[in-house]
Amino acid sequence: GKFYLEDPSGTVQLDMSKFHNGLYTESCFVLAEGWYEDSVFHVSGFGFPPTEPSSATRAYYGNINFFGGPSTTSVKASSKLKQLEEDNEDAMFVIVSDVWLDSVEVMDKLNIMFSGYAAMPPTCFIFCGNFSSTPYGKTQIKSLKGETFKSSRFVFVPGPEDPGPATILPRPPLADHITEEFRQRVPFSVFTTNPCRVQYCSQEMVIIREDLVNKMCRNCVRLPNNNLDIPNHFVKTILSQGHLTPLPLYVSPVFWAYDYSLRVYPVPDVIVFADKYDPFSINNADCLCINPGSFPRSGFTFKVYYPSNRTVEDRWEIFSLNICFQVIHYRWF
Ligand SMILES: *[C@@H]1O[C@H](CO)[C@@H](O)[C@H](O)[C@H]1NC(C)=O
Ligand SMILES: *[C@@H]1O[C@H](CO)[C@@H](O)[C@H](O)[C@H]1NC(C)=O
Repeated sequence: GKFYLEDPSGTVQLDMSKFHNGLYTESCFVLAEGWYEDSVFHVSGFGFPPTEPSSATRAYYGNINFFGGPSTTSVKASSKLKQLEEDNEDAMFVIVSDVWLDSVEVMDKLNIMFSGYAAMPPTCFIFCGNFSSTPYGKTQIKSLKGETFKSSRFVFVPGPEDPGPATILPRPPLADHITEEFRQRVPFSVFTTNPCRVQYCSQEMVIIREDLVNKMCRNCVRLPNNNLDIPNHFVKTILSQGHLTPLPLYVSPVFWAYDYSLRVYPVPDVIVFADKYDPFSINNADCLCINPGSFPRSGFTFKVYYPSNRTVEDRWEIFSLNICFQVIHYRWF
């Protein structure tokens, strides 16, 4: 029941009282303020390192490309890409999580969604797993075939229970034999890792499918007093730690060699936390943090992101459109 502060030079026992905002888990970086007495550090205030907008980070590091991808310099440096991004007002990302391809109801709603977007196909659909409603169910990526979007991209991010190795992050893409048929039909489909990174014009997006909010809460040294604000505490924690899973390795194992793929420093423009926790969108340190929620479990809500003005909208009304028209019709005639 004792906690210690640790750095490469040694450890010191803590007596903890006041916590500032955030979800403090073991192995977090903290700033602790207090006094030292009888070999115990009495903490009067616990805080996180301040979150740092990427503009502040880049002021130090210039055009180094931290994000990855083919460009040797950061895409942020390109005014051409920035212009392209602002001009393309029709660009949108549709973000859906828990896309259970074996569920008739989910498939029905997806079909309604696709016909709703047929006239104006989004830039990209980001579909997160699990892709099966039952653990170890047969993942049938082919169920989506027949959709005829020629201009949209489809990005598939595997969930914790999709076929693949256990719970270690990052998670590799779904195996080729599962996705082969779909990829032939939809050439612009990308089956990728969890987490993954998307660069759109000058914007950097990170997508992770993991139930991090509850995991962080369960492993807190102390839960915040204001439980209503959990998503804000969560987002602040991730951004100030600069890492998607600031948890001890026995809680959230990581492939050491790929740990860099979980780092979020400099802070990207968008992080999608596809989590079964209630949907949220929170702006912190110029980073838009979006949770679309679980599609089947949250009444078929999803999120739409517009990169031209960097806004997010909640979506569910697409499914009630028909009903609205009928009601109006009824009242007028
Ligand atoms: C952002 O842009 C989209 C697409 O052009 C538009 O539908 C939406 O209303 C805009 N949002 C704001 C807050 O300006
Ligand atoms: C899918 O993944 C989640 C993580 O959100 C897990 O807790 C859940 O049990 C999985 N299975 C189903 C059937 O949703």
